[in-house]
Amino acid sequence: MRVKPRSISITSGKGGTGKTAITANLGVALGALGKKVIILDGDLAMANLGIVMGLTKCETNFFDVLLGKVDVNEALHTNYGIKVIPCGFRFEDAHDALSKVKRERVEEVIKEMLRETEFLLIDAPAGMADTTLISIAAAREMLSVCNPTYASLVDVYKTIRIANILGSWTRGLVVNRTGKAADLSVDEVEQFMGRALGSVPVLADIPEDPKVQEAEREGIPVVVYEPECEASVAINELAKVIAGETDLPYTPWGEREVGETTKRLIRALTGRRA
Ligand SMILES: Nc1ncnc2c1ncn2[C@@H]1O[C@H](COP(=O)(O)OP(=O)(O)O)[C@@H](O)[C@H]1O
Ligand SMILES: [Mg+2]
Repeated sequence: MRVKPRSISITSGKGGTGKTAITANLGVALGALGKKVIILDGDLAMANLGIVMGLTKCETNFFDVLLGKVDVNEALHTNYGIKVIPCGFRFEDAHDALSKVKRERVEEVIKEMLRETEFLLIDAPAGMADTTLISIAAAREMLSVCNPTYASLVDVYKTIRIANILGSWTRGLVVNRTGKAADLSVDEVEQFMGRALGSVPVLADIPEDPKVQEAEREGIPVVVYEPECEASVAINELAKVIAGETDLPYTPWGEREVGETTKRLIRALTGRRA
């Protein structure tokens, strides 16, 4: 039987928390566990997932897919055992893609991606722009990335509330770049979230690790570049948690649920009911 696909948006309040690094490396780590994975650059305006994945010269990208110039298949670039759909760099293209995107096209694109994979990870843009809402609504699950500070937690709290409204399930928090003396502890993070939202578990605590930036400079995901470093070990553990399906509070997607996603997406994009 075909495995039902799962889709997960990787979000945070502000930029720079580590969304792109975690999307890329969690994707590669899930691939190493034998899963079929597509990672999509949903950060249309500040695209850089391709670079982190060592793909700098892609002829086709997500803009081309949205504009109907190419099929999803033609924009899938394989590297480090998984598939990547990068975004282009030209802001004119981003503007074009967003202003001309058609409802039917969005529907087709999501369905096509989910037919191709077991996991679709979406690297979401920071903030609360339309593109952020699209990325959240397009996925059934959300993984929030924060840094161990109150400011970062408050930002993430807002994103989780939006996800609740859009019907996306917040799987949990990833606390990234930990290890400094003044940081909040994982317990403090969980207590804060417990007070604010009920409960949102911390799924991983990823230490500040110079290897992450070193790997990024080389265009190699850190889990491949330095598999034994602290950050890689933590990300590989996170992949095992994410891959475990026993505690999912819903049934992963079939064709019908894909349609429901599309409806949420269109509602988020246009404010209308599909
Ligand atoms: N655990 C970490 N240790 C050290 N540097 C990190 C870590 N996680 C991310 N970074 C670095 O922080 C910067 C911002 O990360 P990035 O993934 O681009 O954030 P975002 O996508 O949320 O804007 C990058 O240079 C990245 O290499
Ligand atoms: Mg990013």
